[in-house]
Amino acid sequence: MAKIIDGKPISLQIKDELKEKAAALKEQGISVTLAVIQVGNNPASTVYVNNKKKGCEYIGIGSLSYELPEETSEEELLSLIRELNERKDVNGILVQLPLPSHIDEDKVIKTIDPKKDVDGFHPQSVGALCIGQPGFVSCTPAGIIQLLKRSGIEIAGKECVILGRSNIVGKPMALLMLRENATVTVAHSRTKDIKEVTKRADILIVAIGKPKMITRDYVKDGAVVIDVGINRDENNKLCGDVDFQDVEPVCSAITPVPGGVGPMTIAMLLHNCMESVNIQK
Ligand code: GUN
Repeated sequence: MAKIIDGKPISLQIKDELKEKAAALKEQGISVTLAVIQVGNNPASTVYVNNKKKGCEYIGIGSLSYELPEETSEEELLSLIRELNERKDVNGILVQLPLPSHIDEDKVIKTIDPKKDVDGFHPQSVGALCIGQPGFVSCTPAGIIQLLKRSGIEIAGKECVILGRSNIVGKPMALLMLRENATVTVAHSRTKDIKEVTKRADILIVAIGKPKMITRDYVKDGAVVIDVGINRDENNKLCGDVDFQDVEPVCSAITPVPGGVGPMTIAMLLHNCMESVNIQK
C-alpha cells in the first residue's frame, strides 16, 4: 500500500504558519496586499481566483480584486499593472492566465514589477531561480518541494524524472529539484522512449496534461509519484495525468487528484505574498 500524500493538511499547516507571520507583521504596523486581476470570465479561472482571494482572507492579508471585461485592451491591462507597480500599498500582483487571445501574455508578465511578481513568471524571477539567487518561485513547483519535504521524502541524491517542460511547472520544477541535489531528467512529448526514462525515477513528477496517461508500466517499483495534472475523465470526473488506481499498488507514495498538488499552489502563492515584504525591503 502506498502512502497517500494529502495536500490538504500540509497546505493548511503552511497557511497557519503564514497566518501567524501576517499577525506578527500587523503588530509592527505592516500590512500585506495582493492585487488579483482576471480578464474575462473563464469559469475555471473564476474558481482559482476566488480560492486565491479566500486564501488571503484566511491568513489575514488584503486582496484587491480587478475583474475586467473580456474586451479589455492590452494597453488598458498594461496601464493597470503599471499603476499597481507604483502603489506602495500593493505588495503582490497576480494576473490570472490564460488571457484572451488579443492580449500578449509575455508582455503582461514582463510588465509586472519583478519585486511584486508573486507568481514567479517574470524572466528576472526565472533567471534568479536558475542561478540560485533570491526571488519569487513559481507556486506549483515550490508547493511540490514542500509536499515532499513535509512528507519526509528525501530528495538529495535521488533520480528525479519530470515529465513535461512547461515554463510554469516542468522547467522551474527541474531547477528546484537540482537545487535540492537530485539528479534530474526532463522528459516530454518528443522524448523517444518515455517509459524507459520514467522507469528510472525514484521520484516521478508528471505534468504532461494527458488524463491517466501514466500507468504502472511507466513506474519503478517503490517510486514516489507526484501528479500535477488536472483533467476530466470520460465521466467528467476530475482526474490527474496518472492512473491512480493502476499505479498506487506499485509505488511507495502518490498524490491524489484532486487534493494532492492543487491545494499547495495557493499555499505557496500566499507564501510568496508574505515573502514580498522582504523582497521589497
Ligand atoms: N493559470 C493557471 N495556473 C496559474 C497560476 O499559477 N498563476 C496564474 N496567474 N494563472 C494561472
